[in-house]
Amino acid sequence: MDTRKDMLERLKSHQPGYSLDQAFYTDPEFFKLDMELIWYRDWLFIGHDCELPKPGSYITVQIGEYPVVVVRDAKGTIRAFHNTCRHRGSRVCTAAKGTAAKLVCPYHQWTYDLDGRLVFARQMGAEFDASQFGLKPIACESAAGYLFVCLADEPADFAPVRARLEPYLAPHRLTETKIAFESTIIEKGNWKLVWENNRECYHCAGNHPELCKTFPEAPTATGIQGSKSDPEIVAHWERCEAAGLPSTFEISDDGQYRVTRVPLLRDAVSYTMTGKRAVKKNLSDSVSTDRIGALLLYHYPTTWNHVLGDHAVTFRVLPISATETAVTTKWLVHKDAVEGVDYDLAELTHVWTETNDQDRRIVEENAFGITSPAYRPGPYSEEHEGGVMQFVEWYCNFAEDRLTGDAKPALRSVA
Ligand code: FES
Ligand SMILES: [Fe+2]
Repeated sequence: MDTRKDMLERLKSHQPGYSLDQAFYTDPEFFKLDMELIWYRDWLFIGHDCELPKPGSYITVQIGEYPVVVVRDAKGTIRAFHNTCRHRGSRVCTAAKGTAAKLVCPYHQWTYDLDGRLVFARQMGAEFDASQFGLKPIACESAAGYLFVCLADEPADFAPVRARLEPYLAPHRLTETKIAFESTIIEKGNWKLVWENNRECYHCAGNHPELCKTFPEAPTATGIQGSKSDPEIVAHWERCEAAGLPSTFEISDDGQYRVTRVPLLRDAVSYTMTGKRAVKKNLSDSVSTDRIGALLLYHYPTTWNHVLGDHAVTFRVLPISATETAVTTKWLVHKDAVEGVDYDLAELTHVWTETNDQDRRIVEENAFGITSPAYRPGPYSEEHEGGVMQFVEWYCNFAEDRLTGDAKPALRSVA
């Protein structure tokens, strides 16, 4: 059967409040459609401005079939390009990150300026018009220290995302930070299972002893429903708003992204085993650590985040195959914080390193069980898994709209 038709039928017959059919988690053809319908069309979080500290700084990333390079040009503008040479297609930047005065293809040394223009191509003849062979640009936006790219020809308007995220994030000055540590783990599970696991804390008490010392498992804190009627959460928002930090729960109309603040347990200020700060220097010069809890942000399909008073932990999800997903975690601290003086790296990273590994194991077991011919979609907990239901609903709506051709923007035409 035609995969598009098959997927559409399964989306239409999906029972709300239940997990998806097996094919959504395991089928390579469904995975290809996920990439086409969502990953190659939507804004994707890719990294942070602070990772490109000066002109010529670049990072590379693989989005499905597309190698991408993000670079800060000579004027300081951050740009993204398809990382494929306009000569015969070699990958131009091969390292995960680096600094270069120009981007030089390793194959025959075609040389591109930081703005993507081809400036040198040896012995290509008098007729050769270098202006026709610049690196192909990709839409790129920076918002409060977060870099997003979009592979679509006509990207959706980024302005609403920026308008909602910036007031929450700006006080934390993530552009004035540095990455203290980053890790990438490969989870043997479909990207939607990684997200489903992230969007609930039903599993926390049984799996995350370290995180549960400081992070509340209450669905009003971690989930999607009921926050506005939880007096503890509302009091927390009022306290943070009084300190100049926008805090109320906000979710985009289409459900793709959300920002809010949650209190941590007891008097905890950071994700450490004691709840005490991990970094002596505050993350932002303008925000104290005093009972501000955690700023939680997610943006489907690539990122969830916890911004604290002393550091931030950011997560990037990138699918590799129907059954493998890369999760990259970055720990951000003030740019002047000194390892060994202001923070101990092992202490800073301990809780989320353990938590990530625990999440990896439960996602992999989930994925393994779903491969059974006996698997059937099961019911989510109304009380604890409202966030998962919301994610699945978002996915189903987006995929269905795009399968039926109702949705903008159009897929990038690879001309
Ligand atoms: S493929 Fe890049 S210079 Fe030849
Ligand atoms: Fe978890």
